[in-house]
Amino acid sequence: MIIAPSLLAANFACFGKEAQRATAAGADWLHMDIMDGHFVPNISFGPEAVRAVRPLTKLPLDVHLMCSRPEILLEPFVKNGADRLTIHVELGEQVTPLIWKIRSLGRKVGLAINPGTPMSALEPFLTQVDLILVMTVNPGFGGQPFITETLPKIQQAFAWRAEKNLSYHIQVDGGINFQTTAECAHAGADAFVAGTGLFGQPSLARAVSKMRKIAEKNAPANVPEISSRNGFLLASDS
Ligand code: DX5
Ligand code: ZN
Repeated sequence: MIIAPSLLAANFACFGKEAQRATAAGADWLHMDIMDGHFVPNISFGPEAVRAVRPLTKLPLDVHLMCSRPEILLEPFVKNGADRLTIHVELGEQVTPLIWKIRSLGRKVGLAINPGTPMSALEPFLTQVDLILVMTVNPGFGGQPFITETLPKIQQAFAWRAEKNLSYHIQVDGGINFQTTAECAHAGADAFVAGTGLFGQPSLARAVSKMRKIAEKNAPANVPEISSRNGFLLASDS
């Protein structure tokens, strides 16, 4: 199980110290949310933030690009120390060249899907990615409530992985706290991004370890039944 604190919820006035605090707390990856003010209605930080954090931690830097034109950002992020790069499937025709570009830069590839996008959009790319990011809120802001209707999408990603004998991570991001960690783990998630749910706790170290234990305890023994088929899942079902 991977626990990835999102630095979006860290204190920006001491960003580096917060990255070190998350590292010391036992996090597995550091998640960095890149927002361009166009793909999402908010702006966060860019490649310079990755460069600043890189010497302060050995943890993989998991960069989530909520950006309309990731092609102009991939090289700067890789040069500055990103280990994993996640782009959004909503970018349509750009997705295939972006996947190959990230591969050619020697980094792990993630593909994210927004709550309102049907899972059928991801299916053509399953064999090409190292991670599927099921967004559990509409991206753009930290601190939003978890959207329960996304749980069947996690189950679908888990079922596909087993059926097709693949090994991608299933990551969740948005509104992840101890309760929703249990629900997502039960549905098949194995990588948990949490901003408010971790940085908002009195002890980050205890919170990271508690979240990991909850995820482990709730992991499914078998491929779970897909509980609902509601437009969120496959376009042909709606
Ligand atoms: C959502 C971002 C998230 C965000 C999660 O737009 O992709 O990574 O930081 O924040 P919380 O955990 O506060 O919902
Ligand atoms: Zn994110």
